[in-house]
Amino acid sequence: MQVGEFATPKAIFEDYAYFSSQSASWLEHCRQYSEDIIAKFDPKTVLEIASNDGGLLKCFQKAGVTVLGVEPATNVAEASEKIGIPVINEFFDTKVASLLPKQDLIVGNNVLAHVPNLNDFIAGMHLALAPEGIITMEFPYLQNLLKELQFDTIYHEHFSYFSLASVQTAFSRHGLKIFDVDVLPTHGGSLRIYAAHQGTQECTDRLLTLKLQEDTNNLDAFKKFADESQRYKRVFLRRLTDFKDREYLKHRGGASFNPKSVSIVAYGAPAKGNTLLNYCGVSTEFIDYCVDTTPYKQGRFLPGSHIPVYHPDMLKETKPDLVYIQPWNWSDEILQKLEFVRRWGGEFLIRTRYR
Ligand code: TYD
Repeated sequence: MQVGEFATPKAIFEDYAYFSSQSASWLEHCRQYSEDIIAKFDPKTVLEIASNDGGLLKCFQKAGVTVLGVEPATNVAEASEKIGIPVINEFFDTKVASLLPKQDLIVGNNVLAHVPNLNDFIAGMHLALAPEGIITMEFPYLQNLLKELQFDTIYHEHFSYFSLASVQTAFSRHGLKIFDVDVLPTHGGSLRIYAAHQGTQECTDRLLTLKLQEDTNNLDAFKKFADESQRYKRVFLRRLTDFKDREYLKHRGGASFNPKSVSIVAYGAPAKGNTLLNYCGVSTEFIDYCVDTTPYKQGRFLPGSHIPVYHPDMLKETKPDLVYIQPWNWSDEILQKLEFVRRWGGEFLIRTRYR
């Protein structure tokens, strides 16, 4: 599934607001992955495409593997240089790939969807991969996007949404074969594919089984997705309205009613949160403010809804009645962190599928 290039990658990544090391569970995911892949394939060199602030490569470096990152966003690339990870501050393509030494392992997590020129990108991996090398890539799974109604993950930073079949086709065009796959819980359901040069690896049974189960080549599934996304908007607005107006309805708007008596705030300012708020038309009539741990996002406004973004300390200062958790992909970690909200009787709202 693809959308056109409505914003250039240069504009998106020039001053990038996403630092992946903000999430402790992502760092744990990286640590686990590096241990597993070292045990399985024992790479001596690893190249990470879109290495962000270097969290994953740090795990490999600690294990004695020679690491190199390619990262187009200058601010995050600098953050990774600071922790001692060498980075080429460029978009990865065949031009960059042709200058690199051949790699035993090429990793790309949550990058494939961001690439407008997919053919050149995959051809670049083919160029940079050692003859017996392995590529692994993680990306949100289209099958889950449909099943879990993740319409909010469809936005200008993403150009493609992959099924296993579509990613296999894209790789095979450039002499690469996907031979194995893991289904992961990250980002609402992701795939991790394993690829190698054609003729070097056999496909696993779990790859063949998953392929047979795929149902993303079916127009009705997309029509249903569109209808259900509209229903989502209605249900979400009803929930927010019911909560926000509960005191008003009790006092019927009389003199004793304080319009500030029920406060809703948002936790986290992920890109997908903005898709959802803007699609549903939600702004400060519902949500007083938003907090995010990323210093870069604090003191700014959410695009479109213009909800102000503050440091999370603001929660303790204002003691809101409802905290709406926007990055649902990190909700377990965030709920643990925000346990203190329950002390003043605060409640949580987390995005669910609203069946
Ligand atoms: P992200 O997962 O990247 O979502 P998207 O791809 O839709 O942008 O964004 C998560 C955001 O949530 C990011 O701005 C960091 C923030 N965050 C917190 O403020 N606190 C937390 O505990 C976590 C895990 C994330």
